[in-house]
Amino acid sequence: MEIFGPVSAGQVSLLLGFVPVFVAWLYSELLEYQNAKFLKIVRYSVVNSVGLDNCDDANTQLLEGGSSATSSKVHKSKQDLVRFLLMDKNFLLENRLTLRALSEFGALLAYFYICDRTDLLGESTKFYNRDIFLFLYFLLIIVAAMTSFKVHQDKPQLSGKSMQYLNRHQTEEWKGWMQVLFLMYHYFGAKEIYNAIRIFIAAYVWMTGFGNFSYYYVRKDFSLARFAQMMWRLNFLVAFCCILLDNHYMLYYICPMHTLFTLMVYGTLGFLNKYNENGSVIAVKFAACFLVIILVWEVPNVFEVVWSPFAFLLAYNDPDQSAKQYPPLHEWKFRSGLDRYIWIVGMIYAYYHPTVERLIEKLEESQVRVRILIKASISAICLVVGYLWYDYVYKLEKYTYNKYHPYTSWIPITIYIVLRNINQQFRSYTLTLFEWLGKITLETYISQFHILLRSGGPDKQPRRLLSVIPNYPMLNFLLTTAIYITVAHRIFALTNKLKMVFLPSRDDKRLVYNIITGTIVSLTLYSLSLALLNLPKMLHTQK
Ligand SMILES: *[C@@H]1O[C@H](CO)[C@@H](O)[C@H](O)[C@H]1NC(C)=O
Repeated sequence: MEIFGPVSAGQVSLLLGFVPVFVAWLYSELLEYQNAKFLKIVRYSVVNSVGLDNCDDANTQLLEGGSSATSSKVHKSKQDLVRFLLMDKNFLLENRLTLRALSEFGALLAYFYICDRTDLLGESTKFYNRDIFLFLYFLLIIVAAMTSFKVHQDKPQLSGKSMQYLNRHQTEEWKGWMQVLFLMYHYFGAKEIYNAIRIFIAAYVWMTGFGNFSYYYVRKDFSLARFAQMMWRLNFLVAFCCILLDNHYMLYYICPMHTLFTLMVYGTLGFLNKYNENGSVIAVKFAACFLVIILVWEVPNVFEVVWSPFAFLLAYNDPDQSAKQYPPLHEWKFRSGLDRYIWIVGMIYAYYHPTVERLIEKLEESQVRVRILIKASISAICLVVGYLWYDYVYKLEKYTYNKYHPYTSWIPITIYIVLRNINQQFRSYTLTLFEWLGKITLETYISQFHILLRSGGPDKQPRRLLSVIPNYPMLNFLLTTAIYITVAHRIFALTNKLKMVFLPSRDDKRLVYNIITGTIVSLTLYSLSLALLNLPKMLHTQK
């Protein structure tokens, strides 16, 4: 097996961290198995009413074990790390499922590495055929429509009240629609839909503004736990991918971008959040957002000054294009710049959501003729504006299009929202298959680089395809995609599971303890790996 690229300290630390976890998990399963067997014997003897003495012993033993486990739970928090290192049996039994989740996650990461950085599996080149591309997409839509069409009801007890416009089902489904095209665009190298892909990314960023604003405005939960969970959700997988595959964060530009805009929404609402009920305060906040963006992205040189301290995190250079010399922050400026305003639009739409919902309700209650007239006019306006946008903006060549994109992406997004919600029934329908895919967009986005496509080296763009069945491109597509979607779905579940364990919602002391322990463990592992990697060199120079 050939491995591409030298081994980094980060990779060694991952391995050093993974091995004890994996061993501990195996051991905990063994303990659990023994326990289960023991319990079976006990029950068996109870049923048969023999060996009562033994049985009592066993029961008290079990009870003691149980009570010691619960009593230790009360003041164990400080000793978790120690208990793990000592392979404390109770600790392993209590945390067996966490260890299992960690091990599974490690195994999936190993699969990433094998696919992308070894020659164990093959690779092939992309091919694009518009007919096949559309055929596959429509095939999926037909299958989804036939198998997963669902009418959602808001509150069943309120006799058939339909869903609000832009409900959660709908936004997840919307993500799914776009994500499938986005992945197929990468898989088949469908350059001709470049501009459409820019719109999809803008729509995701719009949803970041919309979803997060709604959440924080209503829940007012600006706690450390919530913040940490949000960061975990967005960056858990990508952090491991960067370390494991020696990539820069910016390779997966969606992640820094969504992290930034999520933080901006959080900051906008969190700052002086006592006054959020006041309409003029919100107006000032929106205006301030626009001003900040204009200042940083539109005034020459401000961007470079503001972001240069973060260059270690946000720099990126494509190794395949080293001939063209771009400044390190070029990629970040380009990507974050494209969607710099649309998250604010999302926040504004979220703010006016209740108002618009009331208007819609009024409209639905009005006379049929009025209703139809208004709806028909709105649809007509949308279609005309949409056509004009398509003709004058969308059809532009990509570099010119990109210049207009930040100021025009709200047009198709708004049109989609209006048409998608124009009708009360229409609003409540979703294809749950797309909804399901929409939930795992982050995981599918990151995983595609390595287990669907193939980058083949640190920081490289995924220009090739992973090939498991040579010479059968479509069959290979089917197989790799099936594995890929399954893996992405598992990672989604594991990310959430581990988030619950390490970032508890209502126990700040424990949360802080976990964050500090995590940092210490990572730093220790990293120093150890650095030392290990330098050992041969040091021995060599001494000779
Ligand atoms: C906030 O935005 C992030 C990034 O798009 C998203 O993953 C998350 O679900 C959003 N939160 C809410 C509550 O909508």
